[in-house]
This record gives sequence, C-alpha cells and structure tokens, in this order.
Amino acid sequence: MDRKPQQQTERSRRSTTGVTLVATAIVAAIATAYASSAMPGRAGRLTFPNPSGVIGTIGMDEADADNPFFQELGTNGRTCATCHRPAQGWSITPAELRDRFERTDGLDPIFRANDGSNCEGADVSTNRARRRAFSLLLQKGLIRIALDVPGRAEFDILEVDDPYRCGGPLTAASVYRRPLPSANLKFLSAVMWDGRRSTPGQAIRDGLIAQVVDAVTGHAQGAPPTPAQVHSVLDFELRLFATQVADRSAGSLTEGAARSGPDTLTREAFCIGINDPLDMLPSMPGSCAGPSGGLNPFVFTLFRGWTSSGSPHRQAIARGEAIFNTRPFVIDNVPGLNGRPEDPVRRPIISGTCTVCHDTPNAGNHSVPMALNIGVADASRRTADLPLYTLRRRATGEVVQTTDPGRAMVTGKWNDIAKFKGPVLRALAARPPYFHDGSAATLADVIKVYDTRFQARFTEQEMADLIAFLMAL
Ligand code: HEC
Ligand code: HEC
Repeated sequence: MDRKPQQQTERSRRSTTGVTLVATAIVAAIATAYASSAMPGRAGRLTFPNPSGVIGTIGMDEADADNPFFQELGTNGRTCATCHRPAQGWSITPAELRDRFERTDGLDPIFRANDGSNCEGADVSTNRARRRAFSLLLQKGLIRIALDVPGRAEFDILEVDDPYRCGGPLTAASVYRRPLPSANLKFLSAVMWDGRRSTPGQAIRDGLIAQVVDAVTGHAQGAPPTPAQVHSVLDFELRLFATQVADRSAGSLTEGAARSGPDTLTREAFCIGINDPLDMLPSMPGSCAGPSGGLNPFVFTLFRGWTSSGSPHRQAIARGEAIFNTRPFVIDNVPGLNGRPEDPVRRPIISGTCTVCHDTPNAGNHSVPMALNIGVADASRRTADLPLYTLRRRATGEVVQTTDPGRAMVTGKWNDIAKFKGPVLRALAARPPYFHDGSAATLADVIKVYDTRFQARFTEQEMADLIAFLMAL
C-alpha cells in the first residue's frame, strides 16, 4: 500500500530525529499532500527515503499540483511525472518500474509501445508479452529513442546486431537511454544526453522549450502543447532543486559543518563556462568567463567541514570529496577532449581529476557544452541486451561498432560517435542505474569503469570514500 509522502518545512524536519520515512507514491498523492499541509510563506521540502538516506526537493509548492507537468498533455495517459519522479531524483528507477508493472499488470501508462518497449509497436497483448516487450525498461529503466541518421551524415549504418530484431531501415537507429533528471536544470550547458535539444548559440532555455514540446508530441503522443502550457512546465522544472538531505550513516547533510542540501544548491552561482579547464567561452546566452581562467579543481566544497569530524562516516564523505577534486590519474584518448588531432587538448592530461570533466561548482556537470566519449558505448562493453551498430565512414570506409552512436546522430559527424554529456551529479543515490545506458547498476560500478578506463588504481579505501561522497550528493 502506498503511504502518503509528507511535505515538511526545514523547521519541522529538524524536529524529527534521524531519517524521515516516506514511501514512494503516485504524484497525485504528492499533490494532495501539498494541498493539505503547505505552510504559508515558506517553500516546503518534499522528502523521500532511499536505501542510503533521504532525498529532498525544494521549489514545489501547493499551486504546482495543477501544473501541466502533472497533467496528461497527450493521448496515451502519460504525464511528465510518469518518467520523472521526485522520489527518484526526478528520474526513475527499475525498482519502481517493476513494482508499477506488478501493481498494474504492466498496464501503467509508462508501458506504452511507442517508446517504452524495446521495439516500436511491440506485442503487448498479454502479461507475458508485456514482460518481454518492456524488458529494457524493467531491467535498466531505459526508454527507446528513435533517431534518423542526419542528412549528409559522414557515415552510414552498415548493420545492426539487434537482440530484439525490431526491423526497420538502416537510415534510423533506436537507442536506449536513462531519463535525465528534470531538476537542477539551472546548471545545464546542454539539453539531453547527446545535446540534441541545444542548438549552438541558443540559450539553454530555448532548448528546454523544445524539449517540452518533444516530450508531449513524442513520449505522450499528443498535439503540440500551447505556449502557456510549455511556459508553466518550464518555470516549474527550473525551480526544482533536489539533493540527498540525510545519509543513513552520516546523518543530516545540510546542517552544521556540512553545506549540502537543495536550499544551498539554489544559491550556487552558475554561468556557462564558470569553471572550464580550457577557457572555451562558448558564444551563447548565459555564458561567462570563469573568475580566474583555467580550472579550479575544488569543484565540490560541501563536506570540507567534516574533514576532522568525530564521525568516521562524515570523515569518509569529506575524504571522498577531496579525492573527487584532487586525486590525479592520466586522462587520455577521450574523443572530444584529447583523443584526436582536432580535439582541444593535444597531450594526455597527466594530473587529471574527476573534476576536469565534472567541473560545475557543486553541481558536477560539464560547465560548457562538450560531448565526450569516455567509452561507455564501446563494443567491448556491450551486453547482450543492447543492439550493436556497425557504422562506416563514407569518405574512408573506416568501420566502428557502438551500442549508441550518441552525438553523431545529431551532427552527422564521424568524430561525434558515442559522445555524451557529463550530467549533473546530484541526487545520485536516489536514481540508479547510471550512465546514459544504465550500464552501471551502482556507484561502485561507476568507479570501477573509471578505474579500468583510466587505470586510476584506486585503493579499496579510496573507492569506499568516493562512493560515500557520491551517495551523499
Ligand atoms: C516516457 C518517459 C518520459 C516522459 C513521459 C518524459 N520524459 Fe523527460 N526524459 C526522458 C528521457 C529518456 C530523457 C533523456 C533522453 C535523451 O537524453 O536522449 C529525458 C530528458 C528530459 C530532460 C533533459 C534534462 C537534461 O539534463 O538534459 C528534461 C528537462 C525533461 N526530460 C523534462 C520532461 C518534461 C517537462 C516532460 C513532460 C512534458 C517529460 N520530460 C516527459 C523520459 C521521459
Ligand atoms: C574525461 C571526462 C570525465 C572524467 C575524467 C570523469 N567523468 Fe564521470 N562522466 C563523464 C561523462 C561524459 C559521463 C556520461 C557518460 C555516459 O553516460 O555515456 C559521466 C558520467 C558520470 C556519472 C554518472 C552520472 C549519471 O547521472 O548517470 C558519475 C557518477 C560520474 N561520471 C562520476 C565520475 C567520477 C567519480 C570521476 C572520477 C573518478 C569521473 N566521473 C571522471 C565524463 C568524465
């Protein structure tokens, strides 16, 4: 049975001890809770438990219950909140999806054959057929995105090894992606994993507008929304800030010497290029030169105050933050950064850190639009549940295999194959699995990918500290 989420103010949250227990519930219930308990004059905080503590969101108040974000704007029963769940960092987890499948016999509106199923128009006539049709959604929380090979692309799709045999022409590709959070959007420098909703030179806001229209006509199979609807959705989602607010071992993450939490995040300064290692300063609205030029590696400064805390858990989080900011490893062969002659950096970055790429202060995404190929979609990492595309470069006949052509499906450029943006790294604990394809089930798996890819040789202790830190974001 669903328990109702509670809406609490900072003051009442402080008066409760330990972790607030609030179950995931349908958004209608959230709306009801808001209507009944919002405190006038104070922005409320919406909290939900997760295995490592509690996630909190601010920016949603009573009036937002009627926001078109929570309304069916299309024809298939879906709303934005079908896939963007406050309890799950405004993304969605396979655990909730499986639960929803069981509760609704696989008939919840997320289980639609337009893009919820592995193949478009899959057989969904029986429970068994639905389990099969929605296997990627149920196992990894992946939504199918169908993209055409751009006209005048530098490559062709030669063949696809498709475990589902969906069929369809080789002029298009189905890729399977995790819903990105619809919160903390203030910090974006590119919209969507492949940046396909940001046009060079255009404001991020314009990209987000295009994204809302796409979501309604695509995911929800509706007519284009009205400008008023688009703007209400946009204003709402831009107000949402979500982070972990309590950790099961370390306690509150927002009080005393720690300065985490969604309230603090709201006040974090941002402009595109705010902390860019390469001083690229893109010409687009909202960009600015960083204060000093070059990279300030101290990207996360939330838990410094816990360095000599009496609690070993708090110390671990503080150490993890320091490792993220300063632990060096060699970064080389990252197309988009230093993999190819046309990339901005010529040589390996010998003293690279996580923050070379995750550089936005206290948000952790890339502060300029710069899609990178860190190897997540490499053929060598392919699992049997994903298709493998073979692409051939028209000019040279060169061939490459990937599970997702990434940004190349947007620009048509050979050199953009398998490039993705580095997303905002907040509210991570609430929204596994990670990476665009959900290939890392846990944050430990994420670290292992980096350890292998960049031969960082993290010690067991370093890994444990990094995980403790990432879980606390
Ligand atoms: C069927 C599930 C589904 C529905 C419904 C849905 N989304 Fe999404 N959303 C996704 C997926 C998947 C992505 C990532 C796709 C990609 O990058 O290729 C995404 C990406 C986004 C992003 C981009 C965030 C970023 O960091 O770039 C925003 C914002 C967003 N959605 C908002 C919305 C809004 C607003 C609605 C309702 C109008 C909506 N979504 C409906 C699945 C969904
Ligand atoms: C060379 C650039 C680069 C470096 C260095 C780097 N990352 Fe990433 N990171 C990315 C990109 C790009 C993605 C998205 C990749 C994808 O999904 O295909 C990503 C994704 C992630 C994610 C998953 C986020 C999500 O929402 O799914 C986490 C967590 C993460 N990185 C943590 C780290 C940590 C910890 C380090 C240091 C050990 C690190 N990164 C170093 C570029 C980098």
